[in-house]
Amino acid sequence: MSDFYITTPIYYVNARPHLGHAYSTLVADALVRFHRLRGENAFFVTGTDEHGDKIVRAAQDNGQTPREFADAISGEFRRLWPELGIGNYRFARTTDDDHVEFVRQVLKKVHDAGDIYFAEFSGHYCYGCERFYTEKELENGLCPQHLKKPELISEKNYFFRMSKYLPWIRSHIEEHPDFIRPERYRTEVLAMLDAGVLEDLCISRPKSRLTWGIELPFDSDYVCYVWFDALLTYLSALGPLDGGDFKRCWPGEHLVAKDILKPHAVFWPAMLKAAGLPVYRHLNVHGYWLSRDTKMSKSLGNVVDPLETAKKYGIDPFRYFLFREMHFGSDASFSEDALIGRINADLANDLGNLFSRVLSMTARYFSSRVPQPCRRLEADEAVVELCASSMDNFTRLFGRIQFAQALESLWELVRALNKYVDSQAPWALYKQGNMERLATVMYILLAAMRKVALCLWPVMPETSCRMLAQLGQAADATAPPVAQISDEITSFGGLSAGTEVAAQSNLFPRIGVEGEAEKKNAKPKEKKSPKPEREKTAPSAEKKDDGAPAALPEIGFEAFKAVDMRVGTIVEASKHPDADRILVLVIDFGESAPRQILSGLAEHYAPADLVGRQVCAVLNLKTRKIRGLVSEGMVLTALQGDRPALIAPGAKVPNGSSIA
Ligand code: MSP
Repeated sequence: MSDFYITTPIYYVNARPHLGHAYSTLVADALVRFHRLRGENAFFVTGTDEHGDKIVRAAQDNGQTPREFADAISGEFRRLWPELGIGNYRFARTTDDDHVEFVRQVLKKVHDAGDIYFAEFSGHYCYGCERFYTEKELENGLCPQHLKKPELISEKNYFFRMSKYLPWIRSHIEEHPDFIRPERYRTEVLAMLDAGVLEDLCISRPKSRLTWGIELPFDSDYVCYVWFDALLTYLSALGPLDGGDFKRCWPGEHLVAKDILKPHAVFWPAMLKAAGLPVYRHLNVHGYWLSRDTKMSKSLGNVVDPLETAKKYGIDPFRYFLFREMHFGSDASFSEDALIGRINADLANDLGNLFSRVLSMTARYFSSRVPQPCRRLEADEAVVELCASSMDNFTRLFGRIQFAQALESLWELVRALNKYVDSQAPWALYKQGNMERLATVMYILLAAMRKVALCLWPVMPETSCRMLAQLGQAADATAPPVAQISDEITSFGGLSAGTEVAAQSNLFPRIGVEGEAEKKNAKPKEKKSPKPEREKTAPSAEKKDDGAPAALPEIGFEAFKAVDMRVGTIVEASKHPDADRILVLVIDFGESAPRQILSGLAEHYAPADLVGRQVCAVLNLKTRKIRGLVSEGMVLTALQGDRPALIAPGAKVPNGSSIA
């Protein structure tokens, strides 16, 4: 089997790495991990593009030689990737000796074959792009990328007969519908080819104007055009053309943003064809990360520092956000509010809460051992089926670089598992002593959680390992957790009864619970949901005109003593499936089984944050049903305006301690 091989762009060293560069490299890392999870050998190449005018000018501005400057910025790129959890790559520099030699060999080969010629030329040169533009390519006389008027330069140069290969490129794109993907970029390239604006490519720069480049093997007065040099990194990084790596890896895949579509979709296939080499399999093109609605750029001062952001919010939540938020191919906006919103909603509330409640229940009901399941009922079969179909969709979409959609289909499963907990109410099964049924429900949950953790390895490697470790599975962020993910789709088991699992889980602490960002991202309120319990019963809802609570009529001591108030520990917390504002709390009051109490806390507390907390509650309140679920008491809160603050004893006390 041939290896899965993909490349990121070889980044210019005229600017420090930012979120845009990090995204492309993270995508390469995740795809490589995904292919390794499918049992393939896989790796990628990334690196730095260091020759050319742009770098010379940036070095000058910094008072350094091009070499010193390139060493410094290239070092920043090189150090960044492992810090973002990225692995399985080779880091190549266009100034590496073996790359320089490789470029010279290819130039010689193409020159010998007659596809490089010398000619006098006058053209519009854009220093930003470091290339000539034809009249037709300019927009209103300006470079379409930099919106600047190019300089008219007349000089003798070497040209690559690219025009000779354009008809072949066109037919190759037509015959291979996913050669350039997503579709919109394929259409764009076909339109570019049809417009007839592409000509032969000037591939040299006279040394009189630029010396920081690879000298042409057939004319020492010239250096090679930076794109002809940089594109060849994709091959030079694989070693000699007759070597094992090249044979196993080529043709590979490329990953770029839309800014460099043309060199990859036109120049590069033509160069490969002229060198007698097979063309790549796929060009995967993504959109831009925007910051304050504009493409991130150093000059606009809107760049996002990937490392700073990852350190602030965690590498894996940051990675998850990038994959979930950007629909591959389209632009996406980055903001900390959006990042916090995803962390709180998808990670803390959905995924983190699932792990926290299921593991604490397993600790409680089965001393943290995976129980032996018994006969499955219809509701269980539905979860098992959903697990297979979600994993199937996830792997299919991920392989087609539709990351956001892949994660969405996995989250359908995560949300369904939370609902399954609510509908099966393990605490009620425990209370009824129905241990067979309880074992089946808990087994299904734990086994499905393992599947979710496996699927997440490419996106959140560290967290996936933590999840697997919590489920008693050996895991390592650098090696795939299973030999073949496809086997996991077709069989449900995979988790042995008796395995010891963690008693607690706190995977994603909720961020800014009191903050603005959370309010903005909160789901719209459900109109029909009942008023929170506290609003119906709390006396302080009645206010005097001056805002102070109204005094209530006196009651006798006996009446006060008749209220059974006790301290208990929350063992499970989840959202009410049908009422947005209500949390379903399972609280241990030291009785034979924990009680279920419903409380209007959902807008103020994250379920995951509540598990393990001691609270005070009234136990002998008449039970009542809220949207189908029974409440067996009322937790006490202090109201600051509308905001409830849970009341807890000043020190930890045994569950069931009475409040007097
Ligand atoms: N050196 C060339 C590439 C040569 S490849 C043989 C180059 N370098 S670059 O430093 O400008 O990198 C461009 C790439 O960085 C984009 O194609 C994309 O991968 C990434 N991004 C830079 N800014 C970006 C965004 N704002 N959004 C998403 N990705 C972007 O071009």
